[in-house]
Amino acid sequence: MKITKAVIPAAGLGTRFLPASKAVPKEMLTIVDKPTLQYIVEEAAASGIEDILIIIGRNKETIENHFDRSPEVEWALEKKGHLEELEEIRRISTMVNIHYIRQPEPLGLGHAILCAKTFIGQEAFAVLLGDDVIYSPDPCTSQLIRAYEKYNSSIIGVQRVAKEDLVKYGNLKGDAVEDGVYRVEALVEKPQPQEIYSELAVLGRHILTPGIFKTLEETSPGRDGEIQLTDALSALAQIEEIYAFEFQGRRYDLGSKQGFLEANIEYALRDEELRESLREYLRKTLTY
Ligand code: UTP
Repeated sequence: MKITKAVIPAAGLGTRFLPASKAVPKEMLTIVDKPTLQYIVEEAAASGIEDILIIIGRNKETIENHFDRSPEVEWALEKKGHLEELEEIRRISTMVNIHYIRQPEPLGLGHAILCAKTFIGQEAFAVLLGDDVIYSPDPCTSQLIRAYEKYNSSIIGVQRVAKEDLVKYGNLKGDAVEDGVYRVEALVEKPQPQEIYSELAVLGRHILTPGIFKTLEETSPGRDGEIQLTDALSALAQIEEIYAFEFQGRRYDLGSKQGFLEANIEYALRDEELRESLREYLRKTLTY
């Protein structure tokens, strides 16, 4: 069945990015001139997703306002003849259908996904974490959808990360079935060094079958006292086949200050208008 629905969890507290995330959701902090969440919604739309459910928490208004029409801004741009900007502003509110649901309390990523149960029903769906941006000419979600179509099973997006960073992510235990594809045996959230099975970290893109909701309902709070998606996926792997897929693309962790800075610099260096002046500035600054 075609994947047409996606869930974007964006209800976390963003404690690694305080105080910036105190009143503004970290998913709305910008990379150059666009909020993080817009890059993620654009990736979903470019991958053929038609309906997105954004899981929101506090400060929901900024997210809803951003993806809504803005008649006064549109009118002002039209009056000034700024037609390119007008088209861009309109595109944000028309590229895909966006729905919202509130996670009553930030009880963990697994709990946030569980809030999507009724919206999803009996279909497989995409998950795109609201603070993970992946730059790739072939959108990451499209890559995962193709893997889903081949294996007809849940697909967990993974990538190799530096050895010292493995303890920050879900870790994959499984054997390769082809280049870059692994049959999942188990997953461990934020492993202790002795629990690390592989160099592969679970990152922020997945295709999940609706079977995940039952295992989520049965998952108790785990690492950090949160209901962890990783634990529910590991339980699901005991019931149905799950595969991990090493996707291509440069991934940025927008939940961390370092990731935010790297994303801003690299996206600006990809921008024709900014590239030269930023290069010149960096060259001068780095000689200090
Ligand atoms: P993170 O664990 O990176 O987000 O979750 P966090 O909890 O906001 O981060 P810190 O550790 O406090 O800085 C990944 C994604 O899942 C969402 C977050 O908004 C983020 O986009 N999330 C997390 C929820 O929607 N609900 C939750 O209960 C937890």
